Amino acid sequence: MDKIVIRGGIPLNGEVTISGAKNAILALMCASLLTRDEMIFHGVPTLNDIRTTKQLLLQLGVCLDDFAAGTLRVKAAEISDHTAPYELVKTMRASVMVLGPLLAREGKADVSLPGGCAIGARPIDQHLKGLEAMGARIDLEGGYVKARAERLQGTDFTFDLKTVTGAENLIMAASLAKGTTVLRNCAVEPEIAELAHVINRMGGCIDGTGTETIVIEGKDRLHGVVHEVMPDRIEAGTYLMAGAVTRGDVRVRHCRPAHLSALLEKLDDAGLRVDVGEDEVRVATNGRVKSNDVETAPYPGFATDFQAQYMALMALADGQSMVTETVFENRFMHVSELVRMGADIRVSGRTARVRGVQQLSGAHVQATDLRASACLVLAGLAAQGTTEVHRVYHLDRGYDRLEDKLAALGADIRREKDDIL
Ligand code: EPZ
Repeated sequence: MDKIVIRGGIPLNGEVTISGAKNAILALMCASLLTRDEMIFHGVPTLNDIRTTKQLLLQLGVCLDDFAAGTLRVKAAEISDHTAPYELVKTMRASVMVLGPLLAREGKADVSLPGGCAIGARPIDQHLKGLEAMGARIDLEGGYVKARAERLQGTDFTFDLKTVTGAENLIMAASLAKGTTVLRNCAVEPEIAELAHVINRMGGCIDGTGTETIVIEGKDRLHGVVHEVMPDRIEAGTYLMAGAVTRGDVRVRHCRPAHLSALLEKLDDAGLRVDVGEDEVRVATNGRVKSNDVETAPYPGFATDFQAQYMALMALADGQSMVTETVFENRFMHVSELVRMGADIRVSGRTARVRGVQQLSGAHVQATDLRASACLVLAGLAAQGTTEVHRVYHLDRGYDRLEDKLAALGADIRREKDDIL
């Protein structure tokens, strides 16, 4: 295993270019199952979750080629296996997104139930209810979802709650169903719109993108396309907060500022200088950050994937802030590690009370999930002394060359073999 060693207290300054969006490409790789034609994706980051998805697609019989760096070719001419096995789904729950396309194209799919993860139970009941509404027979057997359907039928389905991959799974399934499907109370994250846009370019017919009501007219077949993956809004926001927490001045290039509105509003309220360009954002310090309450919510609200990083920022802010996590039931595991670095945080239910301190002290800390890891890196960048972040395989799931990009901004950061864990 690796660890990341940071000597903190150095303000970050400069520019960083954002990579392709993890949560977009994972869905798009699953959407490649909807056609026998070749799909080519540019701007694909090097992430462990993408590697896992490649393994899964290869297991299904899909052909894959990594062209030049950042370009991925996927051709699902034949599907020779219809099983998403436990060992892969357990590693990455987004694997459940093969369920909809496999069922729509092949009429069968056996997908391991993902089970819970560090941040919560994360059931997939909405995915299954929607597929049943489309005529699928769903049996749960031996920890697997066994789904069968002669041909999925269009339906009018209302989600009980906002679910990102739930919406993506059903959009993909409906794209090859017979008839028209209306999905109501849909999540509206930009990655869902990206998926719908690509399916439309594949010959699909999806209306209502970006709204809570999506109408999908099913097609008999879809064709391949070439697509440049959208920038990763969570990566962009993470680097902006890295600049803010170190009292530096960071510009992120190749991003979509509109996808960051809720975060940028919070950073502005916290007294930071926020400059927005066409495809770039700059956040610079204006002295000590002011405390500012936040409550996570589905898009366009404040993203749950920013909550941990934002807490690192509030840990050094002037005053008290309340950080409320409404999306996942257990997404405060970074708190105990921040407290070990000297933060003053107390959790009560879904809300953490954060009292800003003058400084954090470097320490050995342990990552528990992807965004908690990012939070600990940000805290280490701001802390006095040296921080060692252990179990950074969590980070490698969602950040492409994080230490290189931070070093280019002036951080004293390196990756080492971990002799403790
Ligand atoms: C997606 O996860 C993202 N992952 C997550 O990013 C992100 O945190 C999350 O959306 C929320 O924005 C990918 O896109 C691959 P949900 P997803 O279904 O789709 C409950 C990261 O850091 N729920 O929107 O799995 C669920 O338990 C990752 O990049 C049900 O109850 O999240 C949660 O409380 C972490 N039943 C809430 O809804 C269901 O059938 C939102 O979950 C589905 C979800």
